Amino acid sequence: MRVLSGIQPTGRFHWGNYFGAIRQYIALQQAAEEPTGRAFYFLADLHALTTIRGEPEVLRQHTRDAALDLLALGLDPNKATLFRQSDVPEVTELFWALLTVTQMHLLDKGHSYKEKKARGLPADAGLYTYPILQAADILLYDSDTVPVGADQVQHIEITRDLAERFNHIYSADVLVPPKAYVLDDSAKVIGLDGEKMSKSYGNTIEIFETPKRLKKKCNSIVTDSLTVEDVKEPEGDNVFTMYKLFADESQRAELAAKYRAGGMGYGEAKKALINAATEYFAPAWERRADWEARPDDVEDVLQAGAKQARAVGGAVLDRVRVACGLSARR
Ligand code: TYM
Repeated sequence: MRVLSGIQPTGRFHWGNYFGAIRQYIALQQAAEEPTGRAFYFLADLHALTTIRGEPEVLRQHTRDAALDLLALGLDPNKATLFRQSDVPEVTELFWALLTVTQMHLLDKGHSYKEKKARGLPADAGLYTYPILQAADILLYDSDTVPVGADQVQHIEITRDLAERFNHIYSADVLVPPKAYVLDDSAKVIGLDGEKMSKSYGNTIEIFETPKRLKKKCNSIVTDSLTVEDVKEPEGDNVFTMYKLFADESQRAELAAKYRAGGMGYGEAKKALINAATEYFAPAWERRADWEARPDDVEDVLQAGAKQARAVGGAVLDRVRVACGLSARR
């Protein structure tokens, strides 16, 4: 079994990234014989090029921050493998092999592409073929379990289709079709306006907001206009929905009772949310400061990760090359 996932270093990570994906990365990491059986997590910097173009220093900075954030949030390099996508050139070769078995209609349906195009963003071939590079990311390591938020499920289905099509064309079990691992209660984390939290919607709360910004953002969460005295229904309210991410059953029940009793304004609920989030991420702030003081160690983690990833990926790529009739010598 191989757990694998990727995350784009296109800006600082937000609550959607954390509860939708990163928390599951941490939960699924486990010590294993190296490198077989280790969970693989990577910074999808090649994918980020479809968003950050012509700004190399920005991409480098985001990639550094992304590594620090994951380590701070509990990714343990003694258990899981962390690497930069672009440190494993094997992935772009598999990408090409997959392109040759991809039917165009599969990509026309891709909703990231459709959505970005609809919003008038430049639709280049990178964006169009994005799901195939993602398929290569997954298939290169014989991954079978891919922890992601709901917005990535289509990409994992495309990956399955491609693996099956490739195996069918070459009449052999060359590639392993993976499955998405999605948790129901955090598959789609909402943002300040109640829509899906997303950098591109400008409705995010970052994991490492300063206390001042956290307060400002939480205070701007959209609610209805009931007064303090009014009885309120917690289910469906944006503040309560976010609070649930951080709270256990008894804390949830306590705040829900306050909503239903009347006499509690949204300001107080927002305070409860701010406190819960601050407490929840406090250990990560400490770990982040610790890693930040040791940039060489972070780079070492990424280099060691790339080495492990290349060892596994190289063997799978050899299998693909032989199956296709390409030179078996790399
Ligand atoms: P990305 O970088 O947009 O997001 C990283 C992860 O965060 C999840 N996520 C959310 N989950 C719940 N609610 C939200 N509001 C929310 N916003 C983001 C995403 O579902 C994702 O799991 N294409 C991928 C990166 C990628 C990848 C891969 C993932 C590249 N190669 C291979 C898995 C396997 C992406 O853009 O994720």
